[in-house]
Amino acid sequence: MINTVIDSEHTELQDVCLDPFLDLENEIDKLRCSKNAVILAHYYQSPEIQDLADFVGDSLDLSKKAAETNADMIAFCGVRFMGECAKILNPRKTVVIPDKEAGCSLEDSCPPEEFAAFRSKYPEHTVVTYINCSAEVKAQSDIIVTSSNAASIINRLPKDEKILFAPDHHLGAYITKKTGRDMVLWPGTCIVHEQFNERELVKLIVRYPGAKIAAHPECPEAILKHADHIGSTRSILEYVTSYDAHTFIIATEQHIIHQMNKLAPHKTIIPAPGADGTCDCANCPYMAKNSIEKLYLAMANEVPRIEIPEDIRTRALKPLQRMLDLSPNAASQNRNAA
Ligand code: 13P
Ligand code: SF4
Repeated sequence: MINTVIDSEHTELQDVCLDPFLDLENEIDKLRCSKNAVILAHYYQSPEIQDLADFVGDSLDLSKKAAETNADMIAFCGVRFMGECAKILNPRKTVVIPDKEAGCSLEDSCPPEEFAAFRSKYPEHTVVTYINCSAEVKAQSDIIVTSSNAASIINRLPKDEKILFAPDHHLGAYITKKTGRDMVLWPGTCIVHEQFNERELVKLIVRYPGAKIAAHPECPEAILKHADHIGSTRSILEYVTSYDAHTFIIATEQHIIHQMNKLAPHKTIIPAPGADGTCDCANCPYMAKNSIEKLYLAMANEVPRIEIPEDIRTRALKPLQRMLDLSPNAASQNRNAA
């Protein structure tokens, strides 16, 4: 596999000890100005990172934001494939990520060479790929989707179109059910959403009979069948803040609860449980690799920097741009910036 993150010779700068008295928020602000940088953060980032980002969003909104920014540097606090999307859309901008090891189990489940072999068995299928994959897999795709636009984009394809969907099997199964399309699915999963436990969820539902359940479509069917609302992280956030109920059980990565507490402080938000009955499973270990210290170092030293070989970038751009063109109404809300 081609590693699209260039490890410059300065990667060890990530390990330096910072002056404990440094006001990191202030230093990051100075870098934001001096480097004309924009900080984009996913809802799964720590509260500290979410609060200092210029924009917090789901993967579709973050891609849209990356596509339209005038900044010279994009500091992407999420996972590597999200930073890659920003670079695919902005080849001339500097794109840095706080930690080069911030991967994704869905990306790992779909190595480009194996995906190429799988695809070759279905030459007549349109390849619809979830954005949670590497640039090399995007480069082999016809169209990219996110959890917020997958169903609407697939519904726009001709009814008899043969579809191969990768890499998330649960999202693929959910979209198959929702659109009625016959799709060949790649067998990838998210290690976070897969850990929610139906038996423990049912116990929680019994304990909180009025609670509404909101789930991300990366969850298995056994969890989704209990959900009152299924959608992307932004759509879950909108549901919780706008729906007239007091208690919500959330089946997605739990750092999104930070935004829920900010936007709807009077509501009770309960993370969905794992097999041991606690919510500890709802932490993405890849998202958790980022920190304010690493963000500061990445912006100061401009490493780890995303670089993508030009032939892969241009091939990956086509299906990504196709997605953006088909998602004109996806709100690009700036929750944090003044
Ligand atoms: P969203 O597109 O809903 O932000 O999801 C991204 C993700 O990684 C979910 O696990
Ligand atoms: Fe990947 Fe799952 Fe983490 Fe999302 S939560 S970044 S799909 S491992």
